[in-house]
Amino acid sequence: MQWRETHRAFWRPSTPTAHRRSGPCMWAPRKVTVVTGASQDIIPQLKKKYDVDTLDMVFLDHWKDRYLPDTLLLEECGLLRKGTVLLADNVITPGAPNFLAHVRGSGRFECTHFSSYMEYTQVVDGLEKAVYMGPGSPEQP
Ligand SMILES: C[S@@+](CC[C@H](N)C(=O)[O-])C[C@H]1O[C@@H](n2cnc3c(N)ncnc32)[C@H](O)[C@@H]1O
Repeated sequence: MQWRETHRAFWRPSTPTAHRRSGPCMWAPRKVTVVTGASQDIIPQLKKKYDVDTLDMVFLDHWKDRYLPDTLLLEECGLLRKGTVLLADNVITPGAPNFLAHVRGSGRFECTHFSSYMEYTQVVDGLEKAVYMGPGSPEQP
């Protein structure tokens, strides 16, 4: 799996010069850094080694039993901010039940489920969108 960190160097839409210069590509990132490695090794390095403050969006699509530990690691490492979006694929098939229980039950995420099918089959699957709302839930005073 590749961890992609997009540098948030966007043109500001309110800047007329930026409008003129960049036209329809105004929101394209100017630089993308691709980091390759195991999620559990990369996540703890993101702040110091890769100068990441917090993440805007995380797409989870690796081994399903890593969804929960990696989500907890992201929280522990302070990489989630209010509004960070986690989008997790295949949460029904093969399934990530402990991840679902955590994001739906911890009180720290607002969750939406998008039902789907496994590609090329009629097998029910789904994506979970979990928006981090910050610490301070009843489980984590
Ligand atoms: C289902 S594939 C999806 C890959 C990619 N998202 C795509 O759609 O093409 C899962 C990939 O995650 C990788 N993977 C599994 N566990 C990982 C981990 N802990 N860290 C990084 N990559 C991992 C696997 O090697 C595999 O290539």
